[in-house]
Amino acid sequence: MFYEPKNGHGLPHDPTKAIIAPRPIGWISTIDEHGTPNIGPYSFFNMLSSRPPLVWFSSEGPKDSATHAEATGEFVVNLVGRELAEKMNKSAVDAPRGVSEFGYAGLAAAPSVIVKPPRIADAPAALECKVTEIMSPRGLDGRPSDSIVVTGEIVGVYINDAMLKDGMFDITAAGNVGRLVTWTMLR
Ligand SMILES: Cc1cc2nc3c(=O)[nH]c(=O)nc-3n(C[C@H](O)[C@H](O)[C@H](O)COP(=O)(O)O)c2cc1C
Repeated sequence: MFYEPKNGHGLPHDPTKAIIAPRPIGWISTIDEHGTPNIGPYSFFNMLSSRPPLVWFSSEGPKDSATHAEATGEFVVNLVGRELAEKMNKSAVDAPRGVSEFGYAGLAAAPSVIVKPPRIADAPAALECKVTEIMSPRGLDGRPSDSIVVTGEIVGVYINDAMLKDGMFDITAAGNVGRLVTWTMLR
């Protein structure tokens, strides 16, 4: 099979999302202008630089996480541990503005150290970030895509001490969940 994406693939699901997998999930916490916390999972997420430490997530359309990150200049990336996979899926609900997905997904919040958005208390690790750039990448036709890419610098790193073994972050203990792995594990 070969296809040009501009002409469609004719399959029930977009195969590029399965080819580019597994993808880590950035479980983004933010606060709105009234201080209400918000969470959303993003598999269009990754680290793109270590000096300085930069991460990005991409919102397909103007969703709450990108809107809040732009308005407040801050976000937190929470690591989805094995035990949190179901709650992460639940938190993908499109909650009305002002309604916190923390409560809906049954998640406890813990205060961050440097930024205002809280972290997810049970996350094995969390990255406190300040926004450095927001952009809409262009396609070949030169027009901006629907996507909003939020890039941020990591300004604080929380690690649950139980995840440290011999001075290293133990991903087996944390059970990092990625897109695709989640699907095969949960079904
Ligand atoms: C595992 C998983 C990965 C997701 N990845 C993305 C993504 O990369 N970009 C996106 O726009 N939506 C993604 N979604 C959908 C959003 O999580 C969903 O639209 C959510 O309501 C957004 O939350 P927010 O409006 O609070 O930011 C994903 C959902 C799940 C369950």
